[in-house]
Amino acid sequence: MDEPSRSASSSYERLFFALWPGGEERQEIVRATRSLVKASGGKPVPAENLHITLVFLGSLETSRVEAIREAAARANGGAFDLELDRVGHWPRPRILWLAPTIFPVALTQLVDSLWLALEACDIGREQRPFKPHMTLARKVGSPRRLDNTRAVPWQVRDFMLVKSVTTPRNATYSVIDSWRLGQATMTTAS
Ligand code: 2AM
Repeated sequence: MDEPSRSASSSYERLFFALWPGGEERQEIVRATRSLVKASGGKPVPAENLHITLVFLGSLETSRVEAIREAAARANGGAFDLELDRVGHWPRPRILWLAPTIFPVALTQLVDSLWLALEACDIGREQRPFKPHMTLARKVGSPRRLDNTRAVPWQVRDFMLVKSVTTPRNATYSVIDSWRLGQATMTTAS
């Protein structure tokens, strides 16, 4: 996404909506993927940074954050369960990732509903297809092993608006707001 031109008087924040695992899931993810991450030879994402991006907003004026929060509150979606069971590698961004083999319909609906609500904030929909994934390691050239991990169950009950501050060395993420999802549904799509 292109950086907007900046005026001297505006401040900007790099924002995205994400699913953020709780402490237990986070520990399980780290345990289940530790040896694969090590074998990848890449730079592991710190445990506290593990997440699945739903909508990447990029750098936006701080004055727009309130409208984005209101849009998020209008987005609706039901809670859903994920089984994080698939590990893969994308050579272009050079990342090792973890994802569910089966995507619940409620996950796609939540993302669609967010984009729809964001139209009111003049934020255009991402044209690339949504590929939900959790980045485990960056700068992964060609992983020596890519066997799948034991499935990590994750009952997703909320989603977050996250602020990212990146330096050449690392990224610091802070959850600035979160919203509860509605009642769970059982429907899945692959
Ligand atoms: P990644 O983990 O696959 O790199 C914070 O940077 C989050 O937003 C990361 O999860 C990152 O995905 C995602 N992200 C960064 N730039 C993006 C872009 N241009 N489009 C979509 N997602 C992006």
